[in-house]
Amino acid sequence: MDNIILIGFMGSGKTTVGIRLSYLLRIPMSDTDKLIEKREGRTISEIFASDGEAYFRQLETQCLERMKKTTNGQIISVGGGLPVQRRNHALLKQLGCVVYLRAKAETIYERLKNDTSRPLLQGDDPQGKIRRLMEERAAVYEEVADVIVDVDGKEFDEILDEIVEAEKVKECMQ
Ligand code: S3P
Repeated sequence: MDNIILIGFMGSGKTTVGIRLSYLLRIPMSDTDKLIEKREGRTISEIFASDGEAYFRQLETQCLERMKKTTNGQIISVGGGLPVQRRNHALLKQLGCVVYLRAKAETIYERLKNDTSRPLLQGDDPQGKIRRLMEERAAVYEEVADVIVDVDGKEFDEILDEIVEAEKVKECMQ
């Protein structure tokens, strides 16, 4: 079995959906942010603060490269900016079926307005930051996705159903 990879903007629900899918399908789950934090022994915010975003992006690609050799039959949740790097597209495709959890900017803002763990959304005008980043990223998420699930206003059970019923996901679970 290939992996099921969850992509989408920060706050789109990748981690929660990933955990629930992993219970439902009884397969393990990995998360690139968590793997990076563990390997580096520091948080994403600390990595951004001391070494900058470009360094973090290198760590993400290295993480995917390692997973390509070691990981199959899992749910993989990836950081929101990882698919923006085009060098990662082939790696994502090689890992399995890419599912995009698509959310509106308002949904993301409501979920993340009090969050302090996303360095890219700190400081003034988080709403504007979300909107601008989303404009930059929407097309690239759609380009790399095998399956797109709109998540706004949906219960998690509905989202899980849509994922497991998608033909591409079924193929990848065989
Ligand atoms: C980022 C998303 C974060 C994390 C980092 C950068 C992004 O992951 O990788 O803060 O560029 O969108 P989540 O999508 O899990 O929040």
